[in-house]
Order: sequence, then structure tokens, then C-alpha cells
Amino acid sequence: MTEPSIITLDGPAGVGKTTLARMLAQALGVAYLDTGAMFRATALRLGDGGWDLPPDELEKRLDGLEFGLTGVGSGSVLLCNGEPVGDEVRTEQAGVWASRVAARPEVREFQKKAQRAIGASVSLVVEGRDMGSVVFPAAARKIFLDADPRVRAQRRAEQLKAMGQPADLAAIEASIRERDERDRNRPIAPLAPAKDAVIVDTSRLSLEQVFARLVELTG
Ligand code: DC
Repeated sequence: MTEPSIITLDGPAGVGKTTLARMLAQALGVAYLDTGAMFRATALRLGDGGWDLPPDELEKRLDGLEFGLTGVGSGSVLLCNGEPVGDEVRTEQAGVWASRVAARPEVREFQKKAQRAIGASVSLVVEGRDMGSVVFPAAARKIFLDADPRVRAQRRAEQLKAMGQPADLAAIEASIRERDERDRNRPIAPLAPAKDAVIVDTSRLSLEQVFARLVELTG
């Protein structure tokens, strides 16, 4: 059996990683792993204030979580304790909680192990914040997507509206800036491009244009 091949897609909140990673995985015929959804599912399972748990209690709770991945391309399904992780993790609150738990070293260590275990068995397009820089340093191709915070807030507001959820643009932009700040400045695995990542600024590109660029980079 050949070694699984990993393509990493990192970048800040609302940059379009999830949509693009799924499209790219489908085009390449490999599985797609959304590590933001892993952090969100973890945050929801730990519950309100989970980010403030004492280290030993936090580790004990994390030991009770097991992630898996089935399917391929846009049919890839993330599992947490055998159950599919779905749209329940896609709320603004789950995003904020995820960003808070993601600053805890115990959570990052746990996630890194879980992500590497998945990547050891299947070829992946994996999206997150530190996939190229920390979790999969030997990835075949590393891409970092970026965009202006205002543009990202507008895109997120459209997504939320499409899901029938309330979308206050100013509040979303403030929340994106606050999360950027926390994700970029945390001491462990801060959001930053890997040294050998290709940076794609999507602010002025359509989804189709970004996708074409990604296919070009990974073909
Ligand atoms: O990509 P997202 O919005 O679903 O991610 C939710 C939060 O999870 C984000 O604010 C930071 C954290 N995260 C992380 O720290 N590392 C990752 N690889 C993925 C997400």
C-alpha cells in the first residue's frame, strides 16, 4: 500500500476553507477532514466553560472522545464517538467556544493525535489552522488561504442566512476579528502559514477562481 497523501488547507475563520476543501477532496477523490468541526464538536461536548476545566479533569473528559472519518470527497463524514458531526457545530457560539478550547494545550495535543491517526490511514484534504505548520509538516502540498476580515464577515453572514440563522454583519465581523486575534496570538500552534505553504489571498477572487487555483496547485 502506498503512503496516504496529505494536502493541507489552513487559514482564518470565514475564508471559505470548508467549501473549498470539500470541493478539492471531491475533485481529487480523497477524503476530506474538517478539523474546525473536530474542535467545535469537542467544545460542544465539553459544554459551557469547558475551556476553564482544570487540566486533569479536561484530559479525563477528552479521553472519552473518539474521532473517526468515513466516506470520500464531498461524502466524507466526521464521526465523534460513532455519531456523525453535523450542522449543530456550525453556530457562531460553537465557533467561539471552539476558539477558546483550542487555546488549551491539552486540547491541542489530543486533537493533533486524533488528526494524525486519521491521516495515517487515508489520503486527505485536511483544513484547519495549523495543519501545514504543526500537525502534518510533511504534507505533499500546503496551502494557506487568506482574506480581508470584512469580506470574510460578509461571506459568513450569507452562509448563516442560507441556513436560516440570524446574521448581524457588524457582530459577525467583530467576532471574526476577536477570533483572529485569539487564534493568531495563542502561544501554542498560532494561526500562521507554514514556511513552505503557498498563500492564496481570496479577497478579490470568486469561489470558482480560488478553486481553479487550488486544482492548479495540487494537480
Ligand atoms: O474553522 P472553524 O471556524 O470551524 O474553527 C473553529 C475554531 O477552532 C477556530 O476559531 C480555531 C479552532 N481551530 C484550531 O485552533 N485549529 C484547527 N486546526 C482548526 C480549528
